[in-house]
Amino acid sequence: VGSAAFAQAQSNWPTRPITLVVPFAAGGPTDVVARTLGASMQKTLGQSILVENKLGAGGTIAAAYVAKAAPDGYTFFIHHNGMATSPALYRKLSFDPLNDFEFVSQAVEVPMTLLARKDFPANNFTELLAYLKANQDKVNLANAGLGAVSQLCGMMFQRAVGVQLTEVPFSGTAPAMNALLGGQVDLLCDQTTQTVPYINANRVKFFGVTTAKRIKVLPNAPTLAEQGLKDFEVVVWHGIYAPKGTPRPILEKVNAAVRTALKDPDVVKRMDDLGAEIVGENKLTPDSLHVWLKSEIDRWGPIIKAGGKFAD
Ligand code: MLT
Repeated sequence: VGSAAFAQAQSNWPTRPITLVVPFAAGGPTDVVARTLGASMQKTLGQSILVENKLGAGGTIAAAYVAKAAPDGYTFFIHHNGMATSPALYRKLSFDPLNDFEFVSQAVEVPMTLLARKDFPANNFTELLAYLKANQDKVNLANAGLGAVSQLCGMMFQRAVGVQLTEVPFSGTAPAMNALLGGQVDLLCDQTTQTVPYINANRVKFFGVTTAKRIKVLPNAPTLAEQGLKDFEVVVWHGIYAPKGTPRPILEKVNAAVRTALKDPDVVKRMDDLGAEIVGENKLTPDSLHVWLKSEIDRWGPIIKAGGKFAD
């Protein structure tokens, strides 16, 4: 393409639907955030945003796919802390989170909740800890694979308690939640963006939130830290990315559409209802996402390495 045609393609953008890649199963927490933002962003951009769920390997298959996608402004990616934890978890990662992407913006931060199947034999956190210590070889813990925040939370939890449970990976926490509701798995640590309705409907056992402080959407729920897991804190953050080389003017338009979406009353209400917090202005720039991702890679790397659980 000649440079005049290229400039023309950029100034006309978007002339067709835009794909937003989600690295986990439809209906789960990442998917909910993607679809909520996408529904608002497409009003601003004047083209449909199609969510594509690319599953597998804790989000790394999707990240690798986006890293190699055409940088033409029609592929974007939403991912969470997994972008920062995957370099420590995978010995052979085919993408570099810091160098193979363009950065658009952060979006929301989401607390996690520790759940058990409804008939799990522990009725409060004290009973849970006692049960796990006595029966750790019998208990399993669902997650969305190595690189998922459900796995990260589960790892931090097991380490804080001093137990080793059997981990059961799914393609997202939507199917993991189904397995929990069906009684096929025992425990799940998952984001409020999926779990609040199940907690409020009393369809699961709920042992607390993973944030440093209690949260507005589940005001009676204690934190895990206040129940004895000192300094326990896992907060999920979501970033939006594009393949490296996506033209700057397009990135700027998408950044503006994200900012507009985060002020859209429908988005604000939905996120509020699900316990997700819209990030402050200072987190809405490409540079701030890049700096944040780097700091998260540096923060989680040593923690994960100490966990001794890796994949190729
Ligand atoms: C996770 O990391 O556990 C994901 O958020 C799962 C998902 O979105 O399905």
